[in-house]
Amino acid sequence: MDRKGIILAGGKGTRLYPLTKSISKCILPVYDKPMIYYSLATLMMSGIEDILIISTPDDLENYSNLIGDGNSFGINISYETQPSPDGIAQALIIAEKFLDSHPSALMLGDNIFYGPDLETKLVESSMKNHSTVFSYEVHDPERFGVCEIDNDKRVISLEEKPDKPKSNLAVTGLYFYDSSAPQIAKNIKPSDRGELEITDVNIEYMKSYNLYSEVLDKSYMWIDAGTQESFLVASNYAKKIEDETGMKILCPEEIAFNRGLISSEDLNKAAEDYSNSEYGRYLKRVVSKI
Ligand code: DAU
Repeated sequence: MDRKGIILAGGKGTRLYPLTKSISKCILPVYDKPMIYYSLATLMMSGIEDILIISTPDDLENYSNLIGDGNSFGINISYETQPSPDGIAQALIIAEKFLDSHPSALMLGDNIFYGPDLETKLVESSMKNHSTVFSYEVHDPERFGVCEIDNDKRVISLEEKPDKPKSNLAVTGLYFYDSSAPQIAKNIKPSDRGELEITDVNIEYMKSYNLYSEVLDKSYMWIDAGTQESFLVASNYAKKIEDETGMKILCPEEIAFNRGLISSEDLNKAAEDYSNSEYGRYLKRVVSKI
């Protein structure tokens, strides 16, 4: 059954204040495009064509003005509000009707992934029946969810922001779940900080021996762009790759075209719409190579 996507792009963004005082974090630019384009592109690369964007009641209109119904990317986009930031796992409950018993891919709108084999890794993981988290070795695991895995990649321990991490493997903000995720999220209790923790959902999957982790090695880049420092690192990284290769990373229109979701005429129209920007000129170059 087709996997559906959820992008969580809410929260107060206080770690980036005053940048995010009057605008949602995932609308901010990461080099040449709004941050949310990176998560949209990642889900599209996974083969997902039906995506729900969840944000605050104040911010949702901005996302809808930017992305609309997804037609320009050849996908379907819907929107739901999260009235207050009561936890990442709440997204699964908000999305229950949208998911309609389909498996899901939940992605945090401030996470950025890139790597030469990313598409293959995502598509392969998406086709698995079990649930998958993606982990990445970091030097400061205490800032993240942290997992240990066995030789079969099965997750055997999982903790949210532990004082004494048992490994250096951070659980990133992309989660592939089977169809039971909303039900599991409904059954967990809020943590001491009053949030429905995504790590608690993952622990339930782990307890039923149904959670595996794909480790993204150092040929991949993973950035949680939620701090001032990592926000800049993300922009610099996108620019560096473009300078080195002449290619934009995670460009939704280009991915849509390559996956056959939009035609060359559609891509040309997008290029014309943005003809005054470098982004539009890039799309034009993609069209002219056809
Ligand atoms: O980035 C990966 C990490 O993301 C994981 O390793 C952790 O296990 C996971 O808990 C999460 O940790 P963070 O500290 O980064 O979560 P944060 O509260 O910053 O939320 C991440 C994004 O989700 C942020 O852009 C705001 C948004 N959000 C968060 C909450 C709690 C919402 O839209 N609604 C919410 O209720």
